[in-house]
Amino acid sequence: MPRNFGGARHERVTDQTPLPEPNAPAQPPPPGAPTATAKAAAGAIDATKIYGRGENEVRALDGVSVTFEHTKYTAIMGPSGSGKSTLMHCLAGLDSLTSGAVFIGDTYLAKLNDKQLTELRRTAVGFIFQAYNLVPTLTAEENIRLPLMLGGTDGDRAWFDEVVGTVGLTDRLKHRPSELSGGQQQRVAVARALNARPDIVFADEPTGNLDSRSGAEVLDFMRRAVREYGQTIVMVTHDPVAAAYADRVVFLNDGRIVDEMLDPTADTVLDRLKRFD
Ligand SMILES: Nc1ncnc2c1ncn2[C@@H]1O[C@H](COP(=O)(O)OP(=O)(O)O)[C@@H](O)[C@H]1O
Ligand SMILES: [Mg+2]
Repeated sequence: MPRNFGGARHERVTDQTPLPEPNAPAQPPPPGAPTATAKAAAGAIDATKIYGRGENEVRALDGVSVTFEHTKYTAIMGPSGSGKSTLMHCLAGLDSLTSGAVFIGDTYLAKLNDKQLTELRRTAVGFIFQAYNLVPTLTAEENIRLPLMLGGTDGDRAWFDEVVGTVGLTDRLKHRPSELSGGQQQRVAVARALNARPDIVFADEPTGNLDSRSGAEVLDFMRRAVREYGQTIVMVTHDPVAAAYADRVVFLNDGRIVDEMLDPTADTVLDRLKRFD
């Protein structure tokens, strides 16, 4: 479990300028953006995040406006330090913006109090971290079930079995995280996010610690969760091959969205990434 869920502080949306409806497409759309017509699962409007102050100031996000469509698989790419993790954390309500707004479904996160935000994260959002954030004293199965158990439900057993089978953990369910390899822990984290069937899953390099075969299995499963079960996924990755599993790639550089691409292939993504150098 991510620590410190209850402690995040969120700026209030100011009422000086009325915000558009959460599901209005962000204005203006980034260059090359498709016209967003479908209802968005989540998004950011002119999102800016500044860390530190004075000469230590870092503008991690610099006016990001983006929407993520329901039942789509979106990859976020960009050089190291371009703000990918910051964007995901702010979208998921794990960190707060300096200015601008983020929304999940019809809800601006800044309008929620801490208790409501915790509830929204528990019920609507799944997060796969770069660090796995597993509870060390719980078994793999208990870790996977934890988000649902906290809400007092067992979830769908058939779905649990399918998730666990796909990520190859069926014979590791009784193990604690310390008894699992890094790749297996990563797969527990993926299974935990998908088992709860949240409205949206944010995944920060979910295959970064996996060999290419188990990475491909996880990516394929995530894509199936989108195509066959209507899951919505936003995934940060460095890997053009991983990005090619997505329906759309959004490119960040220096805290800004600089491009995006529909129906990516590993080759077209690689070509685009080369132009960052
Ligand atoms: N907690 C923090 N305090 C200060 N600076 C940070 C913090 N988190 C991220 N940054 C800085 O913000 C920028 C964007 O970071 P991040 O979102 O982690 O990039 P990415 O995930 O694309 O590698 C980087 O310059 C990073 O050093
Ligand atoms: Mg990162």
